[in-house]
Amino acid sequence: MDTHLPPPPGARGRAGTPLAEQPLEPLMTRDFETRPALVYERLRARHGPVAPVELYGVPVWLVLGYREVMDILRDESQWKKDIGHWRPYREGRVPPDWPLLPAYHVSHLLHQDDQRRMATRAAVDQALRPYQEPGQPQAVELAAAVERYVDELITFFANGQGSGFVDLCSQFARPLPLMVINRLFGFPVEQGDDIFMDAWRMVDSGPDAGEAIGRLIASTTELAAYRREHPGDDLTTRLLQADPPLTPEEIGMELYAMLVFSDLVSHTITNSVVEVLAGNTWAQESLAVGTFQELVNRVHIASPPWTNLAMHFPVTDVTLGNYHVAAGDGVVPSVAAAHGDPLFADAVGDAVTSSRAHLAWGAGPHVCPSRELAEMMSAKAVTRLFERCDVELSLPVDQLPWRSSLYVRAVRSLPATFRMRWPGGGGAGAPAAAPGRPGGAAAGEPVGAVAGGGDGGPVDGGAAVSTPASVSASQERPRSRLWRFLASMRPGQRQQQG
Ligand code: HEM
Repeated sequence: MDTHLPPPPGARGRAGTPLAEQPLEPLMTRDFETRPALVYERLRARHGPVAPVELYGVPVWLVLGYREVMDILRDESQWKKDIGHWRPYREGRVPPDWPLLPAYHVSHLLHQDDQRRMATRAAVDQALRPYQEPGQPQAVELAAAVERYVDELITFFANGQGSGFVDLCSQFARPLPLMVINRLFGFPVEQGDDIFMDAWRMVDSGPDAGEAIGRLIASTTELAAYRREHPGDDLTTRLLQADPPLTPEEIGMELYAMLVFSDLVSHTITNSVVEVLAGNTWAQESLAVGTFQELVNRVHIASPPWTNLAMHFPVTDVTLGNYHVAAGDGVVPSVAAAHGDPLFADAVGDAVTSSRAHLAWGAGPHVCPSRELAEMMSAKAVTRLFERCDVELSLPVDQLPWRSSLYVRAVRSLPATFRMRWPGGGGAGAPAAAPGRPGGAAAGEPVGAVAGGGDGGPVDGGAAVSTPASVSASQERPRSRLWRFLASMRPGQRQQQG
């Protein structure tokens, strides 16, 4: 590599200087948490489409240009995902307690390359197909279940009241994808309960996230082993039928990854609600004409839930933007910054019929295999929420608490007031008896809405799952942790507790 190049025009750094010796600015600042778009623009102005930054003390390249991100995502021969390609890591220069490291150590599809990736990807695509192909019985049943879950969650937070207060994040958007995943995977009752809490611990990267990852993978691997003995009509069983076969351990890691990715759906839901309630013109227009799919698509452009992707590592030295990137450097493609690149942003403009060329689903060999499923869940949630409720934010938009995360742009909570549009808070498709309502079950105990995705049990052709542990679990129908948690979030419940 030529290390004597002149400084790039307009760039603050030095073109041929190794990454570690570049003037690095820390990325994860208070500014980044509150106004990431401004941080991307500042970096773009200083460095062009690629900027050297420091990520929790480790130097990496952040890729801000639409074309450069696209080039990286599409070229698997030059850009690898396996952490073994990261030079500083191989040389022992990444601290073992670097906060992002545990996730890179789980070897699922997203971190695989070439032949191995192709085999896993084929299995994942094949297993997901029946749930995403229009007209397939599995897709029809899943869509109907999603509608039911959405209605159950709305009915549950409304709690028989015509109006009230709700945190649309923890009481609506976050539980939904987990309910769907619980059904899709075919989790036995008691395991399904536990994953809710551990999945949130993991994605929130709290102090117990490492242990939560361990428990989740143990749980998904156990599920794969169980389904090998007791096949059902579920995604886990379909993964087991892949040719060439994956081991239960490999399937456990794939299920774990999907569980984590499914949280992105909740961010799409909350980001959509924020755009509508913040008075964004295109969002309100989409809502007015009922084009919810279009609303979700526009939200993915304006506020992509997966903002910065996992690192890629070049196998040879390359020129990228104004810099020379050495083989094995860590390179983070930024979807959010690429969407702000004038090259892309000017092309999209303000039209309601928006571009599908956005990068919110990724691109190239690792593009999201679950797009139809995720779009269906997001669109149904947003549609039904605004059909059944008038909603207003309880905080000004600039006061909303955003999560501090490299990977996602999402609110920690979304406090709002709601007014049900139909008397009694119910509506077509709403469950007949809601917990805590007259005629319903005891407070905090939803009728027909327990673990196993809210259907009262695991989904394997209607038969009860009978692991030794789950026989008693399903017979006794213990109060689901999720619904106990949701019940504890209701204002009436909070007052009683307080
Ligand atoms: C709105 C929700 C979602 C968004 C925005 C989203 C976005 C993405 C993106 C950007 C990637 C590529 C990452 C990269 O190249 O580094 C990806 C990959 C992936 N997504 Fe999604 N996703 C969503 C929901 C889901 C759901 C619900 C599932 C599974 C049930 C899922 C499964 C996967 C898998 C397995 C991969 C890895 C694919 C590979 O490496 O070949 N995603 N997703």
